[in-house]
Parts: sequence; C-alpha cells; structure tokens
Amino acid sequence: MPPSDTLRPDDAKRHGLTRELIEALFPLFEEASAGAIAVDQAARITWINQSYAQLLGLTEPAQAIGQPIQTVIPHTRMPEVVNQGQPLLLDIMEHDNQQLVVTRLPYFDDKGAVTGAVAFVLYDDLQPLTPLVSKFRRLHEDLAAARRALARSARGTRYSLGDFVGASPAALEVKRRARLAAGRDVPVLLLGETGTGKEVLAQAIHGASARADRPFVGVNLAAIPENLLEAEFFGVAPGAYTGADRRQRDGKFQRANGGTLFLDEVGDMPLPLQAKLLRALQENEIEPLGSNRVVPVDVRVIAATSRDLGKMMADGAFRPDLYYRLNVLEITVPPLRERLADLGVLCEALLADIGRPGAMAEITDDGVAALSDYDWPGNVRELRNVLERALTLGEDASLLDAADVFRVLPESMARVPACGSLKPVRPLARVVADAEASAIREALVAARGNRTRAARLLGISRSVLYEKIAKMS
Ligand SMILES: Nc1ncnc2c1ncn2[C@@H]1O[C@H](COP(=O)(O)OP(=O)(O)OP(=O)(O)O)[C@@H](O)[C@H]1O
Ligand SMILES: [Mg+2]
Repeated sequence: MPPSDTLRPDDAKRHGLTRELIEALFPLFEEASAGAIAVDQAARITWINQSYAQLLGLTEPAQAIGQPIQTVIPHTRMPEVVNQGQPLLLDIMEHDNQQLVVTRLPYFDDKGAVTGAVAFVLYDDLQPLTPLVSKFRRLHEDLAAARRALARSARGTRYSLGDFVGASPAALEVKRRARLAAGRDVPVLLLGETGTGKEVLAQAIHGASARADRPFVGVNLAAIPENLLEAEFFGVAPGAYTGADRRQRDGKFQRANGGTLFLDEVGDMPLPLQAKLLRALQENEIEPLGSNRVVPVDVRVIAATSRDLGKMMADGAFRPDLYYRLNVLEITVPPLRERLADLGVLCEALLADIGRPGAMAEITDDGVAALSDYDWPGNVRELRNVLERALTLGEDASLLDAADVFRVLPESMARVPACGSLKPVRPLARVVADAEASAIREALVAARGNRTRAARLLGISRSVLYEKIAKMS
C-alpha cells in the first residue's frame, strides 16, 4: 500500500465514492492490475509496487522513489493528471514497444487540492481486449464504407481516385493526369484496352471535380440499339410519337445537367449521332426528339474507348471534328502487362474487395510472381476474375500461392519468354548492370518503397540492396 499520508482519496466523495470504498477497492485493483504507481503533486514517484517495477524492468525500485516519473516512464501522462486534477480513466500508453492499458486517478487533500495521483496498469498486453478492439474497428470500417457508398450512390458513382490502384510510374502518371482533369472543367478522353480502369477513372474524375455533388450519368454506346440512341441522348418531347407513349422523357443530357456525362465506348457511336452530339457540345443545347424547342444544357463530357480512333478517322468511321472536341485532355491508361510491378498492390486491393470483411485472403510473393508470367489481355478485370477463381478452386481459401495461380491461368496464353533479341550486342557487364537496376526498381515499386521487403523479393540482403541502390544513383 502507498503511505496513507500520500494517498488521500477523501475528496473522492466528489466522485460519488466514499473514502472507505476507495480504500477497500485499492488492494483489489493493485492485486488485479499488472502494476501500480503513485506520485506526489509535483509528479515525483512516491511509491511503486513490485509488479510495476518488474514490468518496467527496474532492478532497484527503491531508487525510483523521489524521481520525476517521466525519467522512469517517458510517455506517462501523470503530470497532466496532477496539474489538471482530472482522472484519465482509460488510456493506451507505449512503453518500450509494448502497449499498456492504464487508468490514472488524482487524489486530493481535505480542501480539495491535488496532492498526487495513482496509476494502475490494467493490461500489459492487449490480447484480452482484441475481440473488443477488432469489433470496434470492424464496426467503424463498416460505418465508413456505408457512408462512402451512400454519398457515391447519391451522385451515381462508386469509385474515387484511391480506387485506381497502382504505384508504378505509369500508374502514377495516370493518376496525376486524372487529378489535373478533375481540376479543369474540360472534356476528357480516356483511351485504353478493355478492363484497364477507364470507368473507374471517369467516376473518380467526376468525384474529385467541382461537379461532384451533381449527377454522373453514363451511357454505353455499344449497349444501346442504334435506333434508340437519339432518344436516349436527347430525350423525347411529349406527344412526339403517336401511340401509347405520349409522355415527355428526359434524355441523358438533361439528366446529367450540371454534372458529368460519361460516353462509354464512344468509338461505337454511329456517324449521324456523332454530328448531333458535336452540335450539342458546341452550342450547349439540345433538341428533344419531336420538339421544335431547344433546351440549354451544361454538362462536362468524359468519353472512353478501347478502339483506335486514329484509324477510325482514317477509315471515315469517326468524325475528326468530334474527336478534337472530345480530346481536350487525353489520358492513356496503360495495359496491365506494361505495369506488372503493380500486380502485388492490385492483388492486395482486389482480394480485400473480393473477400468478406474480416476474412481477407492473401497471396504469397511466389503467387504474385506466377501472375507476372501472363500477358493479361483482359487487364485488371481479368486479374480480378483469375483471383476469384483461384480462391474458389484453391486448397486454402485464405492464402493463394503459385500453384493456385497456375491452376487457373489460361496456359495457352502464358507469355513466351522473348528469345532472339534484335537489339545490338553490348558488353555483358552493361547488360547485366541494366538488368539488375531495372529488377531493383521493379522490386522497390512492388514493395511500395519498403527496402527490407524489396530485398526479400530479390533474394538479397538489405545491406547488399543498399549498396546496389547507392551505385545506381
Ligand atoms: N487500376 C485499377 N485499380 C483497381 N481496380 C481496377 C483498376 N482498373 C480496373 N479495375 C477494376 O477492373 C474492373 C474493370 O474496370 P473498368 O470497368 O473501369 O474498365 P474499363 O477500362 O472501363 O473496361 P471496358 O473497356 O471493358 O469497359 C473493375 O472491377 C475495376 O474495379
Ligand atoms: Mg468500361
């Protein structure tokens, strides 16, 4: 027990407790806790029990008496407790790389002045609290996800820029241009193979733009029959058709008013509609079908295609004037095979998305290496499918390794290692040095800059990696 003249819980009546109760509880707390310590009004140690001394690794507890408490416990908040006279009922304190759950209580003299404080370490290991902490974290994540989903569905989008995953120079350049596009109210043209994330980017650009709280309306030109396209785009005036449907119908332009119109697969737009679209974009007004009135509209257009518009223009299948109108800011999204360094982070993100909350699957470094032996014609969409299938067919639903990957990769399409180089022959030492430098760069990207992990991926020690990096720069 601490000396009774230093521990004076009399004033605990203020907290609804009697002195007797505190005195009765003290031994219980001291016994049950992993350590207890008391300080005086100047936050100098007046008493420490055996278990706390042990926990702190003090060989001579007696020498701690009279010392300022911070000299023994650097991260303590006891000075705050004695200065403010307020208890800190629950806190997590770092000490020597361990986390301690602590409670700190001030005590008072008869006149109500603080004369010191006592602290108990409730847990010296967070293990017993794990269910509580992880439940709290899960609830918190669910709530944040629900809020995000709600905000996005309110404006018609699911993705933000963070959803475009990648740390390779090519991916970072795409994100840089997307941020640029978000900040400028000009037409954007997204070019790239199927499954490279054009739709993700279109939504993300809208979400980061000044139009974010206005609608995002997508039209997939490849999915709508040609004879319905015009009505879809520009709407239908009331009574335009004789027959059953006499109501007015808004087109995509009107629905996107104030916001963003996403023209997906714009390369599939028939020529007559291209002319009408161009006019609408030039005049900022549209004419609903069967109406003789024009309606002003204010939309920002983001167009996307996986087709070669240059060739289509040469063939007369795409109007150059529309092309230049749409292509004020162009973003070319690289295929996955050109940014294989991103496979690791992409797998992490996709597996987190595929799995149930709290049951996220992982992939081994060998598994990621196996994925890089393939040329990914379907890009990130195909990667997602491969991971899903590997999880379903794999032996362990929580860990994918190379065998799981090889089982589901389309074998006939695996990349054949290039042989018979057409490059001029160079001294072997140069070729080796270049290959080494590019392997190191790729490993650093794959490990997101973590050198220890990069060294592990390369199968060399950290110090060797440091030496090689120093020589490279
Ligand atoms: N960089 C990326 N990071 C994370 N997920 C991505 C990325 N790129 C694509 N995806 C995922 O891949 C799938 C396909 O993406 P998206 O629909 O944006 O491709 P797309 O380029 O529009 O393809 P298409 O031309 O076939 O319409 C989606 O599930 C998307 O979430
Ligand atoms: Mg798409």
